[in-house]
Amino acid sequence: MAKKKGILDFIKMKEKMEQVTWITAYDYPVASFAEQAGIDMILVGDSLGMVVLGYDKTNPVTMEDCLSHCKAVRRGAPNTWIVGDMPFMSYQVSDEKAVYNAGRFIKEADMDCIKLEGGVRVTPRIRAIVDAGIPVIGHIGLTPQSSGQLGGFKAQGRDVKNARALIEDALAVQEAGAYSILVEAVPPEVTAFIRELLTIPVYSIGAGPADGQLVICGDMLGLFQAFTPKFVKQYANVAEIETEAIRAYVRDVQEGIFPSDDHVYHVIEPMEEFEKMFQEFISEKETEIK
Ligand code: KIV
Repeated sequence: MAKKKGILDFIKMKEKMEQVTWITAYDYPVASFAEQAGIDMILVGDSLGMVVLGYDKTNPVTMEDCLSHCKAVRRGAPNTWIVGDMPFMSYQVSDEKAVYNAGRFIKEADMDCIKLEGGVRVTPRIRAIVDAGIPVIGHIGLTPQSSGQLGGFKAQGRDVKNARALIEDALAVQEAGAYSILVEAVPPEVTAFIRELLTIPVYSIGAGPADGQLVICGDMLGLFQAFTPKFVKQYANVAEIETEAIRAYVRDVQEGIFPSDDHVYHVIEPMEEFEKMFQEFISEKETEIK
């Protein structure tokens, strides 16, 4: 089994220009497949709201939803660095609430660190959580929890003014003590400038080359059918495989093909003994009724 990687390994990987591989997972099976496949980090994203809970956005996701999924992922990937994603309203209200909820990820769900969305405006929260001894990953660019303010799930930093604000956000997140930052749906030219400016690892989801890449498992495995962002490369179509398998099962049951003799447990005593018992049972019941 490969050694579990941690912050110092990720910093070393940046120095050696080695890519960090990062995927979301929300349950035991995908977490264990990811660990077996040699992934470096797992994010239990609040994207679970859309990918596995069926919401049309991430905002309804609660701390309890996140903690429950984090625990399942930890059981599936005991040897992988796992990031808990702070859901909407678990950190926006106050530093105290942010520290308390970040602590729950570490204490109750055995997460290695937390991620939260936002730049300049969340720096007091990042500082407070880091001061409590919890590693933090920042997240800027397309931040789904504030997609209402951003006008939807739209790429960010495509004009000079917006790109400048993103660069300020990136610097502020680093200065607040985050040990790395995730940049989402931003032009690669802007990401490259942010990488030049920062000393911490910069990870990308739809933001071009960086110190590592994140992908949403539902997108890359073809599990999430509502929409597929332009930046996704789909490696499998699990939805198609699962639907076809269930369709075949329905057909087999309807046509009496399943279960066959291969899928049953046969008796282990002579059948005559069972026939005798069946007869006796009926006689006893008939006597009781009389
Ligand atoms: O929740 C999540 O999976 C995320 C990614 C979109 C970065 O935050």
